Amino acid sequence: MITITKRFTFEASHRLNDEYLNQEKNKEIFGKCNDMPSHGHSYKLFITVSSKKLENGMVINFSDLKKIVNENVITELDHKFLNNVEWLPKLSTCEKMLIPIADRLVSVLPVGVNLRRIKLYETEDSCAEIEFEVKWNEN
Ligand code: NI
Repeated sequence: MITITKRFTFEASHRLNDEYLNQEKNKEIFGKCNDMPSHGHSYKLFITVSSKKLENGMVINFSDLKKIVNENVITELDHKFLNNVEWLPKLSTCEKMLIPIADRLVSVLPVGVNLRRIKLYETEDSCAEIEFEVKWNEN
């Protein structure tokens, strides 16, 4: 199984605050990530895709993948306050951002190109990751 991965970078701010919890509990759980007004991260996003067979020797042209991810994800998040991005959950932990990002990509990837993994680094040392199984019968 051959996969390809492309790395993207975006700068964004957020504030971790669960609207269903009181201020004291939010502070206890999220610590300084709950501080007003917000704080920023240089996010690194790794997108991994695969295909059943190579076309012109490629899973997908890297430049095509770059365009798709930039248009559907990066431009939506870069230099944004994540709490205000409509398609993200109010609580924008790395973990909770993965599926909304995946949803935006699976609908626009070319037929036969499968999203396999999304890895999102919030800092150099901390990331969340999700893996998807291949559904070859959809090719
Ligand atoms: Ni943060």
